[in-house]
Amino acid sequence: MTTKITKAIFPVAGLGTRFLPATKSVPKEIMTLVDRPLIQYAIDEAREAGITDFIFVTARGKSALEDYFDRSPELEQKLKAAGKTELLKELRRTDMESGAIAYIRQREARGLGHAVWCARRLIGDEPFAVLLPDDVITGPRGCLAQMVDAYHKTGGNMVATMQVPMSKTENYGIVDIAAENGRLVSVKGMVEKPNIADAPSDLAVIGRYILRPEIMDALGKFNQGAGGEIQLTDAIADQITAGQPVHGYKFEGDRYDCGSKAGFLQATVAFALEREDLRDDFREFLDRVTGLHHAAE
Ligand code: G1P
Repeated sequence: MTTKITKAIFPVAGLGTRFLPATKSVPKEIMTLVDRPLIQYAIDEAREAGITDFIFVTARGKSALEDYFDRSPELEQKLKAAGKTELLKELRRTDMESGAIAYIRQREARGLGHAVWCARRLIGDEPFAVLLPDDVITGPRGCLAQMVDAYHKTGGNMVATMQVPMSKTENYGIVDIAAENGRLVSVKGMVEKPNIADAPSDLAVIGRYILRPEIMDALGKFNQGAGGEIQLTDAIADQITAGQPVHGYKFEGDRYDCGSKAGFLQATVAFALEREDLRDDFREFLDRVTGLHHAAE
């Protein structure tokens, strides 16, 4: 019997330097894809997977995130008075009941593994999920929900995985594959951001994890890994050495790397084309500008 996963950690302490100067005053997780902030997509995905307790690991300068999830009585009042019921509904979808979100500060930027470790007291001895909001994933069913289904059959630890070109392995955690069975991959090792020569495969870890609480002990050793940071990937690799099963899950869906400008733009275009209210005009516009670009070349 596996334990139900109800808690999820959202590491949102990053400075977002790739999006400066915007991130000077706006947390990158608040940057919008069409009209919803990045973080909202991760929250919705977590809810779909049954998560009820949301733990944000934040840092200085991120208070806009807390405001975003709070109620906005004045705004609600105005929308109500103006009869804008659809907008009101949309606004209420962002409400989180009191106590659903906990905010923890990561006092120093010591890496993803350290950020996760900061939430150890709230996690206690339950398995939990981690979602990196930079990775926006679309699909017929949320990526984490797919993983939770699979986890109830496998137990242990699980990471979302996706094939990447060998030339890109140095941007990801890469898994060493022991065996494959459909979407499930049994993992015998993991390396954080290996160069092409050291990469054990082309199967990359994407920012969704289901982890056993014992990982907190491994993270608490503060071993420095790639880039001098405390890496989540290394702590998961430690679990394998300690005899804990780790599975990769090749999720169904498309992933956008919204931590990069190119990925963010791609997601914006893809999401706009999905929207009935924008689709037709936007497609016409895209055809026109791409046509102009081709003509100019
Ligand atoms: C993090 C993880 C890495 C993973 C990636 C997925 O790296 O450390 O293992 O492959 O997220 O997006 P980051 O992109 O934060 O450098």
